Amino acid sequence: MGNAKGKPPGAGKSSFDLIDPNKFFAALVIKPHMKILDLACGQGNYTLALAEAMGPEGVVYGADLWEEGLAKLREEAAIRGLRQIRAILADVSSPLPLDAASIDLCLMATVLHDLVEAGTAPGALAETTRLVKPGGTLAVVEFKKMDGPPGPPRHIRLAPEEVENLLKPYGFRKRLIEEIGSYTYLMLFRKV
Ligand SMILES: C[S@@+](CC[C@H](N)C(=O)[O-])C[C@H]1O[C@@H](n2cnc3c(N)ncnc32)[C@H](O)[C@@H]1O
Repeated sequence: MGNAKGKPPGAGKSSFDLIDPNKFFAALVIKPHMKILDLACGQGNYTLALAEAMGPEGVVYGADLWEEGLAKLREEAAIRGLRQIRAILADVSSPLPLDAASIDLCLMATVLHDLVEAGTAPGALAETTRLVKPGGTLAVVEFKKMDGPPGPPRHIRLAPEEVENLLKPYGFRKRLIEEIGSYTYLMLFRKV
């Protein structure tokens, strides 16, 4: 799964600066005491924002294979006093050290296309469906299918219909799709 330099696909990239956070958080509805998983969090830009939106109760897990990114996340969480963040160094296409049906909200922010491209999406989606509670939410942020920059090459971008078809076999039903910026869209799925 790493590239020639040993980094996982997409390591060092984040879409957080390309989204409208007001639209993103209005759609997500974060509540205190939630357990949130930021799957393939990178350096945790979304993880930090989710933790701040939730407040001190609850937990936000950030999982990624990129050690340097997780080190930055831990450092920034300590600076901001966000003790509800837990960084997990792991391949998200393999079982994570979290209990089944323990997650209220799982976020995959501009990573699904990388997982599809690397052939690791089936493992990651199987693990996501194990972890998200029935009735829980899977949030997917992806780049609109258009030419960049910013973002990955058009041919690896996923249209909303492709995302929906990828997730259906794993028990996720679409409940919302919304533009959250000029380049990105958000889809919310409910675990049935
Ligand atoms: C494009 S970045 C997105 C990071 C973050 N979601 C954001 O937008 O700020 C993709 C991330 O996926 C991670 N990644 C790719 N394949 C992975 C795998 N199999 N297990 C864990 N992390 C992986 C990379 O290390 C990278 O941090």
